[in-house]
Amino acid sequence: MSETIMKIDHLQKDFSIGLMSKKKVHAVNDVSFDIKKGEIISLIGESGSGKTTIGKLILRLLRPSDGHIYYNDKDITTDYKNKRDYYKKVQGIFQDPFASFNPLFKIDRIFDMIFKNFIESDKNKKEKINDALKCVGMNPEFILRKYPHQLSGGQLQRLLIARALIMDVDVLVADELISMLDASTRIDVLNLLASICKEKGMAVLFVTHDLSLGYYISDTTLIMHRGNLVEKGKTSLIYNNPVHPYTQMLLKSIPDIGKRWDKNEKFLPEDINKKIDDFYKNSDIKKGFIEVEDDHKVLFSL
Ligand SMILES: Nc1ncnc2c1ncn2[C@@H]1O[C@H](COP(=O)(O)OP(=O)(O)OP(=O)(O)O)[C@@H](O)[C@H]1O
Ligand SMILES: [Mg+2]
Repeated sequence: MSETIMKIDHLQKDFSIGLMSKKKVHAVNDVSFDIKKGEIISLIGESGSGKTTIGKLILRLLRPSDGHIYYNDKDITTDYKNKRDYYKKVQGIFQDPFASFNPLFKIDRIFDMIFKNFIESDKNKKEKINDALKCVGMNPEFILRKYPHQLSGGQLQRLLIARALIMDVDVLVADELISMLDASTRIDVLNLLASICKEKGMAVLFVTHDLSLGYYISDTTLIMHRGNLVEKGKTSLIYNNPVHPYTQMLLKSIPDIGKRWDKNEKFLPEDINKKIDDFYKNSDIKKGFIEVEDDHKVLFSL
């Protein structure tokens, strides 16, 4: 069993709606999972199911309403001071890579600042930058002289991976990392990420809508529905034996190459919500989040 580096423990995040209202959205509801060294986890779920909120809680951009996050056994939700050390080891890549770079600085200056802010010694700086850029398939000579606006979305996302490499991060939160890349570059970036994880022991929380990509890349799959973690476990088990009706519906909705769309097959949101309600109501023996087989758990009641 590999080493657990992060423990998400009964995490809860509620947002108030409106200034005066006491109404709350339960964006993340009692979510627990572990992140192991070098593990690729995909976090999958419909829009608004709480995926980005989990990413932001891990990156300490939000405070949880309840629950804890342990990084190397230290509770980062109570210790709010030492963020700099934390960010040396836990980093995020968000959907829009353009927003992650200062548009006024050339790339070499951006990398210089990483060393200045996060890495104590400048020893082998140039070599480290060049190695990381080569590792993500980029030519340092060409890229370091550019401004962010002179690069494509895919190139900027590769630079973010290179940044994580230079910093030797333990956990990378990649929120819709490759959604803006074309299909061929996507596979390159994914393969790159997977090989880095296995080589360097970097763990990735890969937030995605795309089940096929999740299957392709991840060791572990987490399925979210309306703030709840409804199914989690080893990726092959989730995809071959989905138990929660929401996971079953998601998997059925992956289009098959070679099979024409059947216009009689419909997925109406009200149908799936009723199915889920019935599932919770009818599972009177199993309650809560229960193991159905080794490394495979399912939410049987709320
Ligand atoms: N700052 C906020 N204030 C109030 N509500 C918020 C805030 N951030 C998120 N929410 C709500 O929390 C819920 C979860 O949002 P979140 O962004 O985590 O979803 P998501 O799964 O990442 O969706 P998407 O796939 O569309 O990115 C949504 O109902 C959203 O409206
Ligand atoms: Mg999101």
